[in-house]
Amino acid sequence: MSFPWAREYEPTNGFMKFMDEKLPLPRLVYSAVGAGYPVPRNLSYMWNFGVLAGFFLVVQIITGVVLAMHYAANAEVAFATTEHIMRDVNYGWLMRYAHANGASFFFVVIYMHIFRGLFYSSYKAPREMIWLLGVVIFLLMMATAFMGYVLPWGQMSFWGAKVITGLFGAIPLVGEPIQIWLLGGFAPDNAALNRFFSLHFLLPFVIAGVVILHIWALHIPGSSNPTGVEVKKESDTLPFHPYYTAKDGFGLGVVLIFFMAMVFFLPNALGHPDNYIEANPLSTPANIVPEWYFWPFYAILRAFTFDFILPAKLWGVLAMFASILVWFFLPWLDKSPVRSGHYRPLFRKFFWFGLIPTIIVLGYCGGAHMTVWTTALSQIFTAYYFLHFLVILPIISSIEKPEPMPYSITEAVLGSDEEAVLGDKTSPAV
Ligand code: HEM
Repeated sequence: MSFPWAREYEPTNGFMKFMDEKLPLPRLVYSAVGAGYPVPRNLSYMWNFGVLAGFFLVVQIITGVVLAMHYAANAEVAFATTEHIMRDVNYGWLMRYAHANGASFFFVVIYMHIFRGLFYSSYKAPREMIWLLGVVIFLLMMATAFMGYVLPWGQMSFWGAKVITGLFGAIPLVGEPIQIWLLGGFAPDNAALNRFFSLHFLLPFVIAGVVILHIWALHIPGSSNPTGVEVKKESDTLPFHPYYTAKDGFGLGVVLIFFMAMVFFLPNALGHPDNYIEANPLSTPANIVPEWYFWPFYAILRAFTFDFILPAKLWGVLAMFASILVWFFLPWLDKSPVRSGHYRPLFRKFFWFGLIPTIIVLGYCGGAHMTVWTTALSQIFTAYYFLHFLVILPIISSIEKPEPMPYSITEAVLGSDEEAVLGDKTSPAV
C-alpha cells in the first residue's frame, strides 16, 4: 500500500533527473526498497528471511551459470566433468561447494520464511496472494533442486532420479507411459540428464520472475509485523532505508559467516558420500535418500505401506504432493481474525508442540533407513500433519479466545498510544 505519508522521490542531480524522466528506475527502487517505502517499525529478525532468500537465489544463479560453463550434460562424461570442475578449473571447487551448500542455505532460509509465515499467519487477508505465490515458488524450488542433484551423475543422482520418476509409474494405466516420456527412455540416461540440465538452468529464472510478482503483491498491503495489528498511522512505520537495509544487512552478515564456515570447512557435511561414486545402474545403494531438505516429504511418501483401493505407492505420491498443496488453502482454513501466534494461546501450543515436532520427526524418518519404527513414526506423524492443517487449525480458529492485543504498532513499541487512550482500545487484529 502506498501510505499517504510515503516520501516522494526527488532526483538530487542532473543525471538522476535525466533518468527519472527517461527510465524512472531510481524512483522504483526508492519506493520499493528505499526511503519511500514505509514499513512497520516493529519488524523482528524473522522478517529478514525474505531478503536472505533473494540473496541465495542470486548466489545460485551466479555460481550455477559459471558451473554450466565447464559441465557437460552427457551421461558418459557428466561425472568426470564435475570432478574436472573440482580439480582443474580455477576456483571450480569454490563454485561447486558454494552452489551445493547454497542450495541447502536457500532451503534453510526458505523454511524459516515459511514457518515465520505460519506462526504469524502471514497467509491471511490481505496477504493471500503473497502466500499463494510463495507456495508456487517453493514447488519450483523443489523441482529445481531435484533436477540439479541429478546432474553430477553420482549414485544418489541416478537412483534418486529413478525413484522419483518411478513415482509417476504409480498412476494407474497412464503411469508407465508418463514415466517413459518424462525420462525419454526406460531408465535415467542421456535424454533425462539433458532435459534435467536444461530445466535446471531455466527454472531459477522462472523463480526470479515469480519472486518479482511476490514482492509486487507484498507492496500492495505492505508487510505484516509481529503483533499482526495493521499499520494505522505514520508513527507505526519507519522508512525501509536506512532502517531495514541496515537490519537486513546485519542478518546477511551473520548468515554469511555460517555459509562461509560450511563452504570452507565442512563442504560435504550436508551431502551424501555415495554421490562421489559414479552412477551405476547395476548397483543399488543400501539406502536411497534425497537431500536433507526433502526428508519430511520423503517420509510422507514412504509412510504408505499397504494397498487400500489404490496402490500404496500411489497413496504415498498423492500424500506427498498434498502435504504442500494443503498450504494453498491455509488462508481459508484458518479463520481466526487474529494473526500473530503471540496472542493465540491454543494455536501457539499446537504450533510449538504439534507442528514443529512433527516436521522434525518426519525429517528424521525421511533420512533414516526404513525400519518398522521409522515407518510407524512416519505414519503417525503424517496423520498428525494433515490433521493439524485440515482439522485442528479450523477448529482452533473458531473456538480460541485470543489474548489482549496492543491497539497499535506504536503502542506495542512505545508502551502507550494517545489514540488508544482516547478511542477504541479493543481494536481487533485488523
Ligand atoms: C525465492 C524465494 C522467496 C523470496 C526471494 C521471497 C522474498 C520475500 C520478501 C523479500 C519478503 C518481505 C520480507 C519478509 O517478510 O521476509 C517476503 C514476504 C513474504 N513471503 Fe516470501 N519469498 C520467497 C519465498 C516464499 C515462500 C516459499 C513463501 C510461502 C510459502 C513466502 C511467503 C511470504 C509471505 C506470506 C510474506 C509476507 C510476510 C509478512 O509480511 O508477514 N515467500 N518474501
